Amino acid sequence: MDSRPIGIFDSGLGGLTALRALRRFLPDENIVYFADSGRVPYGEKSLNQLRCMAEQNYAFISSHDVKAILVACGTMSSNCGDLLEAWPVPTVGVLYSSADWMRRLEGKGPIAVIATEASIRSGSYQKALKEACPGREVIAVSCPDFVPLIESGHIDPKDALLRDAVARYLQPVREIRAEALLLGCTHYGIIEAAVREFLGPEITLVSAAESGAAALCSRLLKEKQTGGSGKTVYYTSGKAEDFSEAAALFLGCEKTEIRAEAIPPQPVPET
Ligand code: DGL
Repeated sequence: MDSRPIGIFDSGLGGLTALRALRRFLPDENIVYFADSGRVPYGEKSLNQLRCMAEQNYAFISSHDVKAILVACGTMSSNCGDLLEAWPVPTVGVLYSSADWMRRLEGKGPIAVIATEASIRSGSYQKALKEACPGREVIAVSCPDFVPLIESGHIDPKDALLRDAVARYLQPVREIRAEALLLGCTHYGIIEAAVREFLGPEITLVSAAESGAAALCSRLLKEKQTGGSGKTVYYTSGKAEDFSEAAALFLGCEKTEIRAEAIPPQPVPET
């Protein structure tokens, strides 16, 4: 038993999809969640910026005596995989866990991944999926408008702006009749209903966030490192009030249950 917390970080609300899954698998864990909302979106950042920010986030989250870290962010997982592996605190990202999840799906037809611009630019998802699912056609689509829309509250499947963006980005996925779609950005789980509505009931949707949470859970169980009192502490580099409100909406709880502490955003290199 190890009751030290698990650290989770993301650029904002997206990592809550991983937190929710982790809570479902291991309800008693203590969690420290860091939403880097002051620097969202990560998908527009350069490789150098992302790598520097990943180190800053690691320094912050590891200062909370965490036993493990879940990088609940496809953008950092696909651009900073070597850094995650080198950190002294055991760290799980969402890239390989989600490729592994896709490997276990039945079928031989085309598959797709949607993620942020920086994730798709890195080529990491495409490479991991080609290795995990040999012989299957893989298409990768970046969806730069999704995160800004989600962070500004456009999450209802009936929302006109969201519907437009979904149709625009997902048309190629519909056209190739993909059998499975990997939601390679953790924010996208928040708009899963809109994605499902556009693509129909047949396609299998795989959540990078859930796969990361499941991988971390297996690791902790294997190493007998589970345990805690189910407490969650939230930090944000944005406005605490805004984060609490949006997080409560997504997690289906009272705003007062999400007491977030605001910390100043760290500087980002210019390029
Ligand atoms: N949720 C993150 C990801 O999984 C970051 C999205 C962003 O800030 O652009 O990629």
